[in-house]
Order: sequence, then C-alpha cells, then structure tokens
Amino acid sequence: MAASMDAGSPAVSTTTALVVAALAVLLLGAPTASAARAFFVFGDSLVDNGNNNYLMTTARADAPPYGIDYPTHLPTGRFSNGLNIPDIISEYLGSEPALPYLSPNLRGENLLVGANFASAGVGILNDTGVQFVNIIRIAQQLQNFQAYQQKLAAYVGEDAARQRVSQALVLITLGGNDFVNNYYLVPFSARSQQFEIHDYVPYIISEYKKILARLYELGARRVVVTGTGMIGCVPAELAMHSLDGSCAPDLTRAADLFNPQLEQMLTELNSELGHDDVFLAANTNRASFDFMFNPQQYGFVTAKIACCGQGPYNGIGLCTPASNVCANRDVYAYWDAFHPTERANRIIVGNFMHGSTDHISPMNLSTVLAMDNRN
Ligand SMILES: *[C@@H]1O[C@H](CO)[C@@H](O)[C@H](O)[C@H]1NC(C)=O
Ligand SMILES: *[C@@H]1O[C@H](CO)[C@@H](O)[C@H](O)[C@H]1NC(C)=O
Repeated sequence: MAASMDAGSPAVSTTTALVVAALAVLLLGAPTASAARAFFVFGDSLVDNGNNNYLMTTARADAPPYGIDYPTHLPTGRFSNGLNIPDIISEYLGSEPALPYLSPNLRGENLLVGANFASAGVGILNDTGVQFVNIIRIAQQLQNFQAYQQKLAAYVGEDAARQRVSQALVLITLGGNDFVNNYYLVPFSARSQQFEIHDYVPYIISEYKKILARLYELGARRVVVTGTGMIGCVPAELAMHSLDGSCAPDLTRAADLFNPQLEQMLTELNSELGHDDVFLAANTNRASFDFMFNPQQYGFVTAKIACCGQGPYNGIGLCTPASNVCANRDVYAYWDAFHPTERANRIIVGNFMHGSTDHISPMNLSTVLAMDNRN
C-alpha cells in the first residue's frame, strides 16, 4: 500500500472510485460516454500522461517507482507517484483522464472524453528540450489537436465535434523548460548569449501568445494557462546551486519575471479576442512558494527534498528503480527532482478550483464550471 493514508480519506475513496471505473472499462469494453465536458491538455512533463512512452526520448517516466501510488501501482508515463494535475482536474469534471494522444485506445467513444497532447521536455521555443531528442513540440501538439478533431468529427459529425471542442476545458502548461532546459541548462547557453534574461522573458511571452492565439483559432474557448512554480527551489536546483538550502537566484528571478508578464499577456489576449474569460491565469508559483516556506501548514515534512532520487536533496540525476524512495509520499511536496507529489498536485488543483484571484484569475474553475453549466 502506498502513501499511508487514513482509511476513508478522500484520496482513498477517489482511488477506489478510479479502480472501480477502470474495472468498468475492462468489463464493458469501453468507457461510458461521459456527460461531462471534454478536456484537452497541452504542454510539458507536469501534464504529460504517457505520450513520451511512445517516443524514442530520454524524457520518460515509464519505469518504477513512477506510478507507485497510481491505482494500478504501475508506471504510466506520468511524472508523479500517483495522479498528476490533469488527472485531478478530470476528477472534478467527473470524467476519466483523457487518454494520451498517442495511445492506440484513443478512438471511438474515448474520443469524447478529450485527449492529452502533452510531451515531457517541451517548451514554448522549438529549441527547448533538444537534448531529449524526440519529443512532441508545441506546434506539433497543436497539429495533433487538429488531427484529433478530424477523428472526432468522423465519429460524431462536424457540428457535434465543433461543439464538443468549444465547450471543453483546456489546460496548457509551458515555460519552465524554456529556463531549466534551455536558457539556464548550461552556462553560456546559446539563448543566454543571445538575450539578457530581461529580454528573453518578453521574447518567450510573445511566442507563447502566438501559440495561445492558435489554440483559440482551433476552437478552444476555456483555457487554463499555468505559470511556472518556484523553479529555482526544486530539489534539482537546490542540489546544483545551493549550499544552504536557499533557492537558485537566477531561476527565481526568471520565474518572477515570467509569471507577471504571462498574466499581463493573457489579459491582453482576452481583450483582443473580446472575451475576458477565455484564458485563465493559474498561478502555481504562489502554491509552490507556500509549500517552500511553510511546508508544515500543508502537512509536508519537506518541500526541499525529493521523495525519489539521490544525492543532496535527492536532487541529482533521475528517479530510477535504483533511487532512494521515501516511505510516505504524502509528506513530501516533491516526488522527483522537478515534479510534485500527487498530494501537492491535489492542493494545486484545489487552488485552481476554489482559490482566490491570488491563485487563478479572473475567476476560479468552480465559478467557470458553474457558469458554463448554466449556459
Ligand atoms: C517552431 O516550429 C514551428 C513548426 O516547425 C514553426 O511554425 C514555428 O514558427 C517555430 N517557432 C519559432 C519561434 O521559431
Ligand atoms: C472561488 O470558488 C468558490 C467556490 O468554490 C467561491 O465561493 C469563491 O468566491 C471563489 N473565489 C473567487 C475569488 O472567485
């Protein structure tokens, strides 16, 4: 049994519900067509739920102990001990997780649930994550969304497909890798030679705006856009850049520049589109700040040491079958050197659902879902 949780805790009953749902799928051969809205996911490893399993890349989470607390206790490609952020949003929507776009099971009724196009290692820029070789860059993720829509239209008809897409919830998570796996990957990186950080951030924000405008053109109308967490404080950065446990200053400054400019850009984009609530700015930096500086308040023993890894802060190298693994994943904010535990993901998504405008603006997801259900 995984992270020791009290019997009857919400996490346990959710796990049970997922197992029951998974059994139902096995027994019936297909998931019950969900009345819930569709859900589409784009971005990087924080939201990839298995696309990279199908690719020749080093950015993968398909070996134990990844998935140790997943309902099947098997690795799935999620960069988590258990559920990731999209999974928990799907729970709130009342649906199964949307399948990875590359899954051969993404056909028939499963198309109605939505799809996850994300690929670990990608960024806003095409040159981000080149070291991972074969990953699905964001332009390709958007092309895959188009191909998906053609399949959906073949299944339910053009009008129904268009409606399913326009009523869907969309999540996109990009940007962290443009710092960690590009600008700051190595000293004197090509991008850091080309740009001062003060000029790099507006550049990637302007590229991000084009990506989001394209997503809108492709039919997305409710899009949660996450900023970056405290990328200077993840166990990997503490291990490489910190002797005393304080956050890496360069990456902290980068996140402090990126997040407000992202929020500003989303406000501009909404007003250019003439709808002030297409793009919702989700501030994950706030939650990771709270975890970092006040872990006990959230029931974490540490937000500095990864559960799975090796070396200082368990922050060196990858989480592999040979790594240290903590006994109780629920008291760690970080599962591996970069990615949160399921329990941290639950708190983050809880903030998206019910939080104040400090966490998500212009309004939270429970407000959005209630509004859309009235329409
Ligand atoms: C990234 O690649 C795509 C597709 O190859 C291209 O359309 C896009 O303009 C590129 N982005 C940048 C910033 O070069
Ligand atoms: C967020 O959601 C809750 C409902 O879950 C609502 O009561 C609250 O007013 C919302 N907060 C904001 C700032 O929109």
